Amino acid sequence: KILILDFGSQYTQLIARRVREARVYCEIMPFNTSIEIIRDFGARGIILSGGPASVFAEEAPLPDKAIFDLGLPILGICYGMQLIGHTQGGRVATSAKREFGRAKLLIDNQQDLFADLDIVDNTCTVWMSHGDKVEQLPPGFEAIAHTENAPIAAMRNGERRIWAIQFHPEVVHTYEGATMLANFVHKICGCEPTWNMTNFIESKIAEIRETVGDASVLCALSGGVDSSVAAVLIHRAIGDRLTCVFVNNGLLRKNEAEAVVKTFRDHYHMNLHYEDASDRFLQKLAGVSDPEKKRKIIGNEFIYVFEDVKKRLGSFDFLAQGTLYPDVIESVSVKGPSAVIKSHHNVGGLPENIDFKLLEPFRELFKDEVRLVGLELGMPDEIVHRHPFPGPGLGIRVLGEISKERLDVLREADHIFLEEIKMADLYRHIWQAFVVLLPVNTVGVMGDERTYENACALRAVTSVDGMTADWAHIPYEVLARISNRIINEVKGINRVVYDISSKPPGTIEWE
Ligand code: XMP
Repeated sequence: KILILDFGSQYTQLIARRVREARVYCEIMPFNTSIEIIRDFGARGIILSGGPASVFAEEAPLPDKAIFDLGLPILGICYGMQLIGHTQGGRVATSAKREFGRAKLLIDNQQDLFADLDIVDNTCTVWMSHGDKVEQLPPGFEAIAHTENAPIAAMRNGERRIWAIQFHPEVVHTYEGATMLANFVHKICGCEPTWNMTNFIESKIAEIRETVGDASVLCALSGGVDSSVAAVLIHRAIGDRLTCVFVNNGLLRKNEAEAVVKTFRDHYHMNLHYEDASDRFLQKLAGVSDPEKKRKIIGNEFIYVFEDVKKRLGSFDFLAQGTLYPDVIESVSVKGPSAVIKSHHNVGGLPENIDFKLLEPFRELFKDEVRLVGLELGMPDEIVHRHPFPGPGLGIRVLGEISKERLDVLREADHIFLEEIKMADLYRHIWQAFVVLLPVNTVGVMGDERTYENACALRAVTSVDGMTADWAHIPYEVLARISNRIINEVKGINRVVYDISSKPPGTIEWE
């Protein structure tokens, strides 16, 4: 396995993604992790990430310098390279010209890190994003690549097995960057490409059996990818000692509750407790229009309902959750510019002072790895590739005050939108697609009659992680069909608009 030390780059998680794609297990730890922990982790190599700081800054993040004496191969990326230059006896300078964006890298040595690249004339496009750069090699180092701007764009010390590159191999704009990282972990560190989901499932099932023993597990099932796959995996491991709770908060999509019950009860034969708490939620939400207040009410009510159900079901030793690796690292990572963007916690909002132990089988996985686990477990596409759905559900998509009637109108329109998106084969290309019911009435004409009804907005975005998003370029013909169907089939809507804002500066949801 590989250790990635995080110096606060917005790309650190991408480094981990690429290493995992090379089928080598890796973890991210903060830059100041103690040498004892690093030694205990037992990595075969260390990658130093980029970061927003300058090595000259007063509080420049520095790793324990003993990492250079572990005898492990080290790869420094961007800030990681400057740090190596600065601490190993070279000279780093703040360049007058900031280099940002694509650059042409000329490779001067096609060995190890740069072996087997699919490039012509030893030239490849790389992604740069830095101010400082290494101007003089530390003793024992040689330059192995350059750009017009940087005579030392990559360097290595073969004897001490240290490599450093100024560009970012982890981003897709760096052509063959994935090969370079694979070269580092396979060729240089000697890691075998054995990390895959079949192995993961086998060892996780054994681990769950061992951890849980004869005890019982309660799982809050939301119907989303993470909790669904977690439930199926845990069920494989411990069978009927797992009980799932699915709460209908009245803010779900059309047919959603029925589908979840059918899948988990009829298909997987799990102990599923279905709690219809719609009325409770809607009562609490009556008359509330402020989005943050709605969120709070929905979150709190979920906790009350969950506690209630738990009491009725008896005692459990473990609570299962579909927590993913990005949530885990976010809580330990350096406060770089990447850390502050995220504003939501994607959990149903479980109580903080719970009296059971947590069982989180996906703590080490990324979302697409969880999807692979689901597929490997034979789960249907509709679950494995489901779009993310916010905890507060349709509660933040009926803008303003929520009522059962308005929710029903929204559900019908939303259902048509998704049906057409799937029919046009666009579902998998889109990150999220949904309808927002607007708090305005507009004038229309139907037959000979004037109408005065609701307007709704269609929202569909493409994205890789939900942090940034672009509005989806759905073909006009598809939009036309959707609009026609909604206006004709949904009583209460007489106007459909398409949202063409990107994030930033917009957000994906409207509330
Ligand atoms: P925004 O609207 O901030 O949304 O661009 C980014 C992602 O987060 C989801 N989202 C939420 N998820 N509770 C959640 O669990 C929330 O309160 C919440 N608000 C937004 C949104 O659907 C998108 O995937």
